Amino acid sequence: MTKKPSIIVIGGAGHIGLPLSLCIANANFPISIYDINKENLKKINDGIFPYKEEGGKNLLNKILKKKTFSISNHISEIKKKDIIIICIGTPIDEYMNPIHSVIKECIDSILPYLSKGQLIILRSSVSPNTTDWLNKYIAKRKKDVDIVYCPERVVQGKAIKEIKEVPQIIGFFNEKAFIKASKIFSKISKKIVKASPIEAELSKLFCNAYRYIEFSISNQFYQISSAAGASYKKINEIMKQDYSRANNIPSAGFSAGPCLLKDTMQLTSFYKNQFSIGHQAMLVNEGLVLFLHEKITKTFKISKLKIGLLGMAFKADSDDIRDSLSYKLKKELEINAKDVLTTDPYVNVDKNLKPLNEVINKSNLIILCSPHNIYKKLNLKGKTVIDVWGFLSSKKNNCKFI
Ligand SMILES: NC(=O)c1ccc[n+]([C@@H]2O[C@H](COP(=O)([O-])OP(=O)(O)OC[C@H]3O[C@@H](n4cnc5c(N)ncnc54)[C@H](O)[C@@H]3O)[C@@H](O)[C@H]2O)c1
Repeated sequence: MTKKPSIIVIGGAGHIGLPLSLCIANANFPISIYDINKENLKKINDGIFPYKEEGGKNLLNKILKKKTFSISNHISEIKKKDIIIICIGTPIDEYMNPIHSVIKECIDSILPYLSKGQLIILRSSVSPNTTDWLNKYIAKRKKDVDIVYCPERVVQGKAIKEIKEVPQIIGFFNEKAFIKASKIFSKISKKIVKASPIEAELSKLFCNAYRYIEFSISNQFYQISSAAGASYKKINEIMKQDYSRANNIPSAGFSAGPCLLKDTMQLTSFYKNQFSIGHQAMLVNEGLVLFLHEKITKTFKISKLKIGLLGMAFKADSDDIRDSLSYKLKKELEINAKDVLTTDPYVNVDKNLKPLNEVINKSNLIILCSPHNIYKKLNLKGKTVIDVWGFLSSKKNNCKFI
């Protein structure tokens, strides 16, 4: 039997790095995780999954019992590994341009420890041509190392389930590197798809940009319906009745988070700001909270209003507040409102959050920001509510919509 390659995951304590590492460990590969976030590494070592992840805690505790899983204390440990998987965050800056330096700094930190025959798997979502840049950057430094790009396409919070189901795209420069990478991915997933690195990079970004644009269309429809004094929820239902071509039209809602906007902006920046439809989607999705702010100021005397925001995570049933539009709305409203009260059952990094009942009782106006499933049966005590998502029902939730 051939020996299994040893693996290290850089960014292994992250939302993407940790589930991937656990799935690979579960397929009995010897694997270590390395991360600059020591606090989360400690939690992981103690059997605590640092984020909300379906099946995360159980799998983590199973894997912690394996001798083949470990937590690396120092980056130099990559010296002993056959494969290095990079899962670090790749954010955009305040001007919506990719911060290329994060990948460069990470690579510079591992360069001294790279040796002949190793394979680097780039998993982070990256700006187009980053893999090509990386290949040349490493070759120039006389390191005989192969590089492949294998994008992560799971939905955050369901990674452990979806890694098995989502086909794994492997973007490669040479067949030898493809074979090495596919030995891992074929053991954790059902299907491998061959691609060039640029095809793999673009396919990842296109998937997210497509979703982001799709959501923006509904967010614009919501605003048009609102301007016409009609309910987009109702119109969305009417459009879909026995008309399958309309089935995929989403509801309106806060569309943000650490991936969709960022990946769309990576494309915009790459395409010299000519990805106009992507840019337009950003204006609509980010502008939705400004639209709501205006609607509130036109309808109420905002200086007398106590406003309750339900759900501060960037999406339903998540604990992640990265790039959440709930906070953008909060910031806008706080300028003029008498008070803005916020609540979320899952978020544990915001000390200003209040208990749900306190927010409902004290608010004159409630805005549903993240449609967490547990809000479905909420009694809103006759309060006035803004629900962009069309998630609540005035009858079941005892509220009136504006
Ligand atoms: N979150 C998602 O749903 C999702 C889905 C698909 C793809 N992605 C992509 O995956 C990548 C990671 O995203 P994430 O959500 O897991 O981010 P994250 O911030 O949760 O995780 C990144 C981890 O990398 C660590 N890190 C950063 N720089 C490092 C370095 N130089 N050395 C070691 N560790 C380092 C951080 O401490 C963090 O734990 C991003 O490129 C993202 O776009 C994310």
